[in-house]
Amino acid sequence: MTTILITGATKGLGFETARRLVAAGHTVCAGSRDAERGRRAAEQLGARLVLLDVTDEASVAAAARAVEADGGLDVLVNNAGVEGRRPDGSVVGAAEATAEQARPLFETNVLGVVRVTPAFLPLLQRSSAPVVVNVSSGLASLTRVTVRAAAARYPLRVPPAPVSAHAACQAPVSTGRCGAAAAAVQERQASTASASTSRMSASGSGTQASASACTE
Ligand SMILES: NC(=O)c1ccc[n+]([C@@H]2O[C@H](COP(=O)([O-])OP(=O)(O)OC[C@H]3O[C@@H](n4cnc5c(N)ncnc54)[C@H](OP(=O)(O)O)[C@@H]3O)[C@@H](O)[C@H]2O)c1
Repeated sequence: MTTILITGATKGLGFETARRLVAAGHTVCAGSRDAERGRRAAEQLGARLVLLDVTDEASVAAAARAVEADGGLDVLVNNAGVEGRRPDGSVVGAAEATAEQARPLFETNVLGVVRVTPAFLPLLQRSSAPVVVNVSSGLASLTRVTVRAAAARYPLRVPPAPVSAHAACQAPVSTGRCGAAAAAVQERQASTASASTSRMSASGSGTQASASACTE
């Protein structure tokens, strides 16, 4: 049986991903930074509640201990995320955000992943088919709001004349839109289940598969 931890599973894509994976027969640990919201979501989902605030080292460490005590982990879905909002509720994209607006987003969306992933790697490395899925966003991409090819896809977010820009390091190819995290988990689990045991023993380390789910 596959055990999957989804950070930020109280609502939105995390909740829906959890719902689909529970329906597919997996054991899902629903991550929540709030005990009451988490309890409600886990109950609705038929999932286990794991208290987990991705901005808090102690919370992440406690969550890793709890998941280990419950039997371990096969899949980590780094889904928890926040976005910048204006007072009128509209979203602030990468082209408009100030450094001050971006700072708290980095704390959760970037450093959260940096905190959570290494804390769970020792558990994942004990799995025969470990997977990490990082849910990302086109909204946060400065490349997408500046390169010409992206202008056609994101007409409302680009400046009138596309600016030439070059990425120093390309992100992993995205796997699709909404539902991508669940699909990535299913696909990666299927494709690594048979091969990963031998690769783990050959390499002696490392999580064997990772996937990037860009939800745009
Ligand atoms: N929806 C979209 O169209 C879209 C588009 C592009 C990318 N994405 C990405 O998809 C992911 C989920 O987005 P969403 O739209 O489903 O967002 P959402 O509905 O706002 O849900 C975000 C989830 O993250 C949790 N969260 C926030 N800060 C947290 C923290 N410090 N520790 C733990 N959990 C935390 C929230 O918990 P609380 O209930 O406690 O607030 C909530 O469960 C994000 O990474 C986002 O960047 C979404």
